[in-house]
Amino acid sequence: MGLRLDVLNISKSYDGKPVLRDCSLSFDKADVYALMGQNGTGKSTFLRICALLENPDNGEVNYFSGSGIISKDIELRRRITLVLPKIGIFNTTVFQNAAYGLKIRGIKGNEMENRVEKALDFVGLIHKKDQNALTLSSGEAQRLGIARAIVIEPEILFLDEPTASVDEENTRIIENIILSMKEEGGSIIIITTHDRSQAERLADTLLIMRGGTIIRS
Ligand SMILES: Nc1ncnc2c1ncn2[C@@H]1O[C@H](COP(=O)(O)OP(=O)(O)O)[C@@H](O)[C@H]1O
Ligand SMILES: [Mg+2]
Repeated sequence: MGLRLDVLNISKSYDGKPVLRDCSLSFDKADVYALMGQNGTGKSTFLRICALLENPDNGEVNYFSGSGIISKDIELRRRITLVLPKIGIFNTTVFQNAAYGLKIRGIKGNEMENRVEKALDFVGLIHKKDQNALTLSSGEAQRLGIARAIVIEPEILFLDEPTASVDEENTRIIENIILSMKEEGGSIIIITTHDRSQAERLADTLLIMRGGTIIRS
């Protein structure tokens, strides 16, 4: 049974300034959800809280499998992943960068190699697997970030502005990667974007963040 995520009445302030107010939402279908909103409206804050990287001041973030709530332990954290707009790249090959999540999970040998190659192929970087990842363009680096995430086959994938500061060609490639993942099915994909037309191209569910709350559009 796949993971589901319920966000219940979460609020968050920084330095006394409210960013999120009473946000509630269920992510329960293996679909693409797009969260739109102007810069600074709290989209990234919302994703970090959903991905358990930060706690809300109030409210709850609950993960379910079947009818039971899952505890927020390392096992759960390994089933979800957040890709930031600027990924951290290690000073080593594209292959080694993409392999990171498998290595820390103790997956080695042929299985590791096959999964990394499949992920790099999926994002169109297989021909660059031996290149130092620091030499990638920003669009390629962003695709590497996606490869590093999908190699661990997350059940919930959060993509924070996956095409911010990426050129048109790479934007098209990244959108196609997301559409292919959607076609494969099985995982919940939640992306943020300030581009409404991109949200419409990719998502089954459009959400808008405004005034610190989320409205379905
Ligand atoms: N760790 C933090 N400390 C202080 N302020 C923050 C922090 N994270 C976000 N903010 C503020 O919260 C607001 C929402 O930011 P963010 O969630 O990044 O918005 P978005 O992703 O929609 O552009 C902004 O005003 C930002 O400056
Ligand atoms: Mg943001």
